[in-house]
Amino acid sequence: MGLSDFITLESEKIMAEFEAFAMQQLPAAADMDVAALRDHARQVLQAVALDMLQPQTKREQREKSLGHSTRADGAGVEAAQIHGSMRAASGFNVNQTAAEYRALRASVIRLWMESGPKLGRDEVFELVRFNEAMDEALAASILYFATEAARMRNLFLGVLSHELRTPLSTIMTSGHSLVLAAQQNKPMPAAADRVLRGSRRIQSLLDDLLDYVRSGLGEGMRVSPKDVDMAVVCERIVAELRANNPGRVIELETLGDSTCVCDEERIAQAVSNLVGNALKYGPADTPVKARIDGSAADQISVSVQNGGPPIPEATRESLFEPLVRGAETEREGYNLGLGLYIVREIALAHRGSASVQSDAQVGTVFSVRLPRGASDAASAAFPGLRMN
Ligand SMILES: Nc1ncnc2c1ncn2[C@@H]1O[C@H](COP(=O)(O)OP(=O)(O)OP(=O)(O)O)[C@@H](O)[C@H]1O
Ligand SMILES: [Mg+2]
Repeated sequence: MGLSDFITLESEKIMAEFEAFAMQQLPAAADMDVAALRDHARQVLQAVALDMLQPQTKREQREKSLGHSTRADGAGVEAAQIHGSMRAASGFNVNQTAAEYRALRASVIRLWMESGPKLGRDEVFELVRFNEAMDEALAASILYFATEAARMRNLFLGVLSHELRTPLSTIMTSGHSLVLAAQQNKPMPAAADRVLRGSRRIQSLLDDLLDYVRSGLGEGMRVSPKDVDMAVVCERIVAELRANNPGRVIELETLGDSTCVCDEERIAQAVSNLVGNALKYGPADTPVKARIDGSAADQISVSVQNGGPPIPEATRESLFEPLVRGAETEREGYNLGLGLYIVREIALAHRGSASVQSDAQVGTVFSVRLPRGASDAASAAFPGLRMN
């Protein structure tokens, strides 16, 4: 069987082989669901198979080998462009994106050779065409990856500057008022309070940034697990958020045993991010409902529910990616889009997980699930884990 027919007919087998490789070798792929991982690889492959069937002149082949495709809008290039920008948005690095093509190419050639094709002039020619088309797709994908990465970096720097400037200008104005007040011997507690609040906001932005940068450097998030009563942690966070959001209702209920072994400050940060999001993105006239579920022996979960329109299924998982914000915040530019990423990193550092469910009946529920005991977390080979 010719190579392009083989690719079309055996695409399931090729995808299974490719997927096994990707799951093993590409850390960012481990968080992706199989469908998302397969989708674009399949499209790239189908487009490559189609490209191989197109007649090609000697001149076109020479141009292609020099990286100057004469069909820049070809299906292969287009699929690869989408692939490149999707991978940039999914936390892949450029090596991993290129590794996907290597895996795809190796899977195709290995399975085709195993099928025992007769290797005449036509088959060798097809193999050359296949490699050319793959190279072209790889180049297009990397180019788009780089463009998307640069766009995200610029967007991030823009949002960061905006975010830092707002509290900074409050601090400067209030500081100025305080200097004047001191000259006139007049106390100004409200201005002092604004200085403190602005500074806290900047501190929390910088803390988030540091967590993000550290986790991106492959250090993972460090956690120091101790005996903790989850109910006490959640009550503390909920009390703080109630005080900061007068008029909002935040309910908290506990089922079963709320004790576990975890990093108290990190878990408090995760709960605070989730309840903070529910307050920010849920309608102001509906309650936010937090619930600790300790009814299972080996795990404990905290979930936070809010009302409002459901989050579309297609965008749900991407909300956990760093620097991803919903459409409403893109416009106003209030946040960095790091909150849920940090929640998931904290859950993973405890060998747990973070997830979201959203529908019109129940609303939106973000949950964190943790193993109850330290032993599960401590025995795992997680590099960021540090026991005190
Ligand atoms: N409870 C929720 N209900 C509806 N949408 C939500 C909820 N939580 C998060 N989102 C959506 O997910 C996006 C990402 O949330 P995340 O907490 O990661 O970032 P952020 O809130 O935009 O910024 P940051 O938390 O860094 O200040 C939000 O911009 C919002 O669109
Ligand atoms: Mg948030």
